[in-house]
Amino acid sequence: GVPPLSQCLNLYDFEVIAKRVLKPTAWAYYSSGADDEVTMRENTSAFGRIWFRPRILRDVSHVDYSTSLLGQKSTLPVYITATALGKLGHPDGEKNLTVAAGKEGIIQMIPTLASCSFDEIVGARVNDTQVQFMQLYVNSNRKITEKIIQKAEDAGVKGLFVTVDAPQLGRREKDMRMKFDDVGSDHQNQNKDNVDRSQGAARAISSFIDPSLSWDDLTWLRSVTKMPIVLKGVQTWEDAVRAAELGLSGVVLSNHGGRQLDFARSGIEVLGEVVDALRARNLFPNPMFQIFVDGGIRRASDVLKAVAMGATAVGIGRPFLYAYSAYGSDGVVHAIQLLKAEMEMNMRLLGAPTLKDVVPEMVDARALGTH
Ligand code: FNR
Repeated sequence: GVPPLSQCLNLYDFEVIAKRVLKPTAWAYYSSGADDEVTMRENTSAFGRIWFRPRILRDVSHVDYSTSLLGQKSTLPVYITATALGKLGHPDGEKNLTVAAGKEGIIQMIPTLASCSFDEIVGARVNDTQVQFMQLYVNSNRKITEKIIQKAEDAGVKGLFVTVDAPQLGRREKDMRMKFDDVGSDHQNQNKDNVDRSQGAARAISSFIDPSLSWDDLTWLRSVTKMPIVLKGVQTWEDAVRAAELGLSGVVLSNHGGRQLDFARSGIEVLGEVVDALRARNLFPNPMFQIFVDGGIRRASDVLKAVAMGATAVGIGRPFLYAYSAYGSDGVVHAIQLLKAEMEMNMRLLGAPTLKDVVPEMVDARALGTH
C-alpha cells in the first residue's frame, strides 16, 4: 500500500513512493538518465548553487503567482511537460495529467509519444477553457507529422513545442537492461512488427524520429500551422538567438531531463547566457519570445529562481509522473497544490507580491557557473 496523500509534503516524496509501486520496467524508463547520469543529477544540484536576496518590509498580504504562457493564462508559472508512455505508470496514463492540470488551471504539454490516444487526452479536458500545448517529434514521413499538427490545431491546442535535442534517443542503460512490453503507444513506426523490444522502451518507440531535421525545416513547419512554435531542447545562446531572430515564439532551455547528451549543462545554467545575449540584441524582454526552462525543478524556490533570471515559466516532468503512478490524478492535483503553497510562502519571504516583483536582483547566481 501507499501512504495517504496528505503525507506527501513535497515533490520529492512522490519519487520515493513511485519507486516502490512502479513495475521495474516503468521505474527504469521514467527514472533513467543518459550514460552516467551526470547531467540528470546536475539538473537538481544546479539550483543548490543559486541563493536568494530577499527584500523586506513590503506589503505581502496578498500574493499573486498567476501568469501567461504564449498568451494563455496559467495559475502558476509552471506547466506539465511532455513525458512519453504514460500508461507504464498507471492505466489512465496521460489523462491523469489532463484532469489535474484542468482542475488546477495549469497547462499540459501533450507528448507525441503518449500512451493514450490524442483524442482521449483532449477528451479528458475538464472544461472548454482548458489549455493544452503539444510536443512534436518530427517524423521522417512529413505527411504523418502534418496530420498530427493539423489534428492538434483543430482540437484547439495553443502551442507547438518541437523537440530539437533528440535526433537520436540517448543511451539510458537502466532502461536498456529491461525488455519493453508495449503499452499501446501510438508510436508512428512504419513497421510496428519489426520494433525491437529487447533494448528498453526508449529504443523501441523512437525509430521514426527524423535525424535530418534542420533549421531549414522550420520554414515548412511554420507554413503548416498557425500555432506558436517553440523549440524544446535549446542549450546555447547561439541557438536561442537564432530562434528569436527567426521569429519563433520561444525556446525551452532543457536537456531532456538528463536523458540525451550527458554533460550537457542544466537549463537554469544556460538561462544566464541566453538572457544576456538576447538583451544585448534588444530581443529581451519580449512578450512575443518567451523563455522556458525545464529539468530538476522540484520546489517553488526553483521556479522563482528561474523566473527571477528571466524565464516566463518552467516545465516539470518526472514528479507528476510519479504522483499519478501512485495516486492517479489526485496525486497530481496534490503535487500542484503543494507547489502553490510553496509559491505563496516563498514569495512572501522574498518580498515579492507578484511575479513582476521577482527580479534578477533577488538571486545571487555567482556560484552557478561561468559564462
Ligand atoms: C521525457 N522527456 C520528453 N521530452 C520530449 O520532448 N518528448 C518526449 O517524448 C519525452 N519523454 C520523456 C519521458 C520521460 C519518462 C521523461 C522523464 C522525460 C523530457 C521532458 O519533457 C523534460 O524535458 C524533462 O522531464 C524535465 O526534467 P524533469 O522535470 O523530469 O527533471
